[in-house]
Amino acid sequence: MPASTLRLGVNIDHVATIRNARGGRHPDPVKAALLAVEAGADGITAHLREDRRHIRDDDITRLKARLTKPLNFEMAATREMVDIALKARPHAACIVPERRQEITTEGGLDVVRQHNHLVPVIAEMKAAGIRVSLFIAADEKQIDTAAEVGAPVIEIHTGAWCEAVIDGHNTMAAIEFERIKKGAARARSLGLEVHAGHGLDYQTAETISMLPEIVELNIGHFLVGEAIFTSLSTSIREMRAAMDRGAARRPAS
Ligand code: PXP
Repeated sequence: MPASTLRLGVNIDHVATIRNARGGRHPDPVKAALLAVEAGADGITAHLREDRRHIRDDDITRLKARLTKPLNFEMAATREMVDIALKARPHAACIVPERRQEITTEGGLDVVRQHNHLVPVIAEMKAAGIRVSLFIAADEKQIDTAAEVGAPVIEIHTGAWCEAVIDGHNTMAAIEFERIKKGAARARSLGLEVHAGHGLDYQTAETISMLPEIVELNIGHFLVGEAIFTSLSTSIREMRAAMDRGAARRPAS
């Protein structure tokens, strides 16, 4: 796989978090999204939460109007969010858990428990031409059920692995990475497209880019945090380079 076909989705939520701390317009997440695209992002990810903690409705409208790259809308599977997605028609929508009871022990969406709720939601969004993904742990049952409920894409939750790496818990990190590796292979064998994200930094992004099944990484917090020390363009360019280094080490197919 040529390194350049591995996509980087830049999550701009935390630009909005800083803006919202003062309640004004600065820094504008839409301006950050346009800058991210210039710096090499293949898409922009934004999570409209029920409490509008970071991205707001108006940000989604402005993103849709101005973005030249695909918009990936992160959302809970609620009627309100489905209606917003159907109106905004983003390229993709990633269904994430919003409340504690929707989460598996590993932190991803509990697709097994929510099977009956998710089937019509996914069908409705797919019928509107939105590419639906499910943000799940690399758990065999969750992956199999994701395929059953009709989602074409999964995004593997990398949070537990990234935390173990950062905390230097090497045994735990190795176990978590093995789980992600096996999960990615299983998902691909079921015909699912595989994305990954949460907590990734340069090091973990480079490592996970070596997995041949992964076609997209969605990264936000680290990039916005690094921008304090360098710039958003620099952190995105360095992330792109880290991903390309990892992807270049994929096994020959
Ligand atoms: N992917 C999904 C589905 C997410 O919910 C998040 C966090 O909003 C991310 C990726 C990005 O995670 P981070 O901000 O830790 O890079």
